[in-house]
Amino acid sequence: MLKTLDYTTVHNGYAVVQNGLTYLSGFGNEFATEALPGALPQGQNSPQRCPYGLYNEQLNGTPFTAPRLLNRRTWLYRIRPSVVHPPFRPTTHPTWKSTPFTEVAPPPTQLRWSPLPIPETPTDFIEGIVTYGGNGELSTHTGCAVHLYAANRSMENRYFYNADGELLIVPQLGRLRIHTEMGIMEVSPGEIAVIQRGIKFRVELPDGHARGYICENYGALFRLPDLGPIGANGLANPRFFLTPVAAYEDKEEECELIAKFQGHFWATTLDHSPLDVVAWAGNYAPYKYDLRTFMCINTVSFDHCDPSIYTVLTSPSELPGTANVDFVIFPERWSVAEHTFRPPWFHRNFMSEFMGLVFGKYDAKEEGFLPGGASLHNAMTGHGPDTATFEKASVAELKPEYLANTLAFMFEMRFVCRPTRWALETPLLQQDYYKAWEGLRRRFDPTNPNA
Ligand SMILES: [Fe+2]
Repeated sequence: MLKTLDYTTVHNGYAVVQNGLTYLSGFGNEFATEALPGALPQGQNSPQRCPYGLYNEQLNGTPFTAPRLLNRRTWLYRIRPSVVHPPFRPTTHPTWKSTPFTEVAPPPTQLRWSPLPIPETPTDFIEGIVTYGGNGELSTHTGCAVHLYAANRSMENRYFYNADGELLIVPQLGRLRIHTEMGIMEVSPGEIAVIQRGIKFRVELPDGHARGYICENYGALFRLPDLGPIGANGLANPRFFLTPVAAYEDKEEECELIAKFQGHFWATTLDHSPLDVVAWAGNYAPYKYDLRTFMCINTVSFDHCDPSIYTVLTSPSELPGTANVDFVIFPERWSVAEHTFRPPWFHRNFMSEFMGLVFGKYDAKEEGFLPGGASLHNAMTGHGPDTATFEKASVAELKPEYLANTLAFMFEMRFVCRPTRWALETPLLQQDYYKAWEGLRRRFDPTNPNA
């Protein structure tokens, strides 16, 4: 029943070839890769002269003094160092918002949006980003923002980096071919990609259009959750995270580099591509992950587990057990609980929950929650199965059932996700969402314990 992977994957030690692109496997490994033989210095990081006349440049994703377990940095060997650029000039991005999210008061109402349409005018991946909400304060490395993107144009001589946080990208429609400083990776719906703070990239759209979700994480870098009593294996296995091998653009043409810095957008013009890294070595590099390789843990007896069992990646905060943001998925899986109401129950949560749907149907919502749509249930806001789901699940025959054709996910946040003005005023906001629970009639009968 579980889908096996349908692309050609060739494993050769740590190298994985997939759809013509080569990746290195493992989460946060100490990688080493070169696009020209001998481009990577041997035996040291900073030789007096680098091979092929390259410049070396260190990119630190954590403080120099971060504990070894958490320390992330990469040595880049490139045609020109990143310092070579004219001054940045201010530019704007009308729909990508940043902290503080104080445009409007966040309502304690359940919110749901219809799918974001593909734009009618030429729009690239960066231009197509629309912010739904966020929290924290990016200048103090707390919180995150939630965006959707909808695009129909590849980025050619246009490049971007985000100094404010890392981008966790969840494609919903169309592939993304992401050219980064560290190499090229292609992600399809059903996979995710993470591009860390500072890494330059551009995005091509092999299918001509694309849509998906983004968590812009201002906090600690995403990492794999601890497994506790689960043991050494399970959930997202480190081996299935893929990082691109070195690939470079030796392009002497006018290129635009956009930077997001402290919530503002800046642009400069280069006379060369900034993706000119011929070799690199380190553990700070973008990665992708196929969500079909997530090993689900769930009950084989009764009752409903909390969704934390589906955590793929977590950005921890300074409080133990309180994530800045968790990335949680609800993939295809068996449902076997006995004498149990199987869908997610009604609840109110300390954490705030932004949900999206990549494909299929979510098991707590019969209607209205559509692929490319989104919902937001903020802290202490009641939510749960809609009326139709409740009625059906309360009387369902509890035979083992395979939940097929479904991939929903959640960005579960420590702080309230404060919607943008756009998110509350767009016609995509479903004004009748509250009616999903209107039919939950009084069932209480004090004279009948078996009502
Ligand atoms: Fe919830």
